[in-house]
Amino acid sequence: MIGWPRVHHRVIDSTNERAKRLAAGGAKHGTLVTADEQTAGRGRQGRTWRAPPGSALLMSLVLRRLFPHHAVLPLTAAVAVCEACESLAPVECRIKWPNDVWVGDRKLAGVLVEGRPQERWAVVGIGLNVTSTRLDLPWDLRGTATSLRAEVGEGGPGPEPVLRALLERLDDRLDDDPDDVLDAWRARDALRGRRVRWAGGEGSATGIDRAGALLVDTDAGRVKLDAGEVHLL
Ligand code: BTN
Repeated sequence: MIGWPRVHHRVIDSTNERAKRLAAGGAKHGTLVTADEQTAGRGRQGRTWRAPPGSALLMSLVLRRLFPHHAVLPLTAAVAVCEACESLAPVECRIKWPNDVWVGDRKLAGVLVEGRPQERWAVVGIGLNVTSTRLDLPWDLRGTATSLRAEVGEGGPGPEPVLRALLERLDDRLDDDPDDVLDAWRARDALRGRRVRWAGGEGSATGIDRAGALLVDTDAGRVKLDAGEVHLL
């Protein structure tokens, strides 16, 4: 079972940082770090992750038994987030490559996977906006972010039920064949058929390959993006 032992902090710099220190110190597979509030929450591509205190699920999970999932772990986490949210609230989640979870064109959750493959551990960090209203969100995110409450109103779940559902879905998905996970990811692909741009060009997103790389058709042919950020045009 993943999610145990669990360390909960009222305030912490970053649950990922804490989980990485625990993992480097030998913490067992499934160890969970959660917090009500982060003062230095980290996102992908050097960004920060911000959420009003007490309103988001902020969690980092130490995983050691990774294979054969290692390559697609960030995608697996995004699929599990979608499935957990949809099991608790009437929302339809899609995934913006590689692992942003969207409702409509707004971001509900983000995933940051960090680790030391040579030591065979990874930390899966997830930030999921749960009970904030749109006005509670940092002002510069109000146009692009959402929360479960903003989508479904006051009757929606709180962070703890979301955590339980997410651990359950993640546990199941980590046992799945990675090809099945990729199929589930593809069924939620928010970019497929849409024009995107990235630092090196622009084109039409056509899905992901078996390693989770984004395939984009450009005027010069098909391009494969392994990492980085793409934006909708
Ligand atoms: C992204 O969207 O760029 C990824 C955001 C990941 C944020 C979560 S919040 C819990 C965990 N601790 C962190 O510092 N980051 C992740």
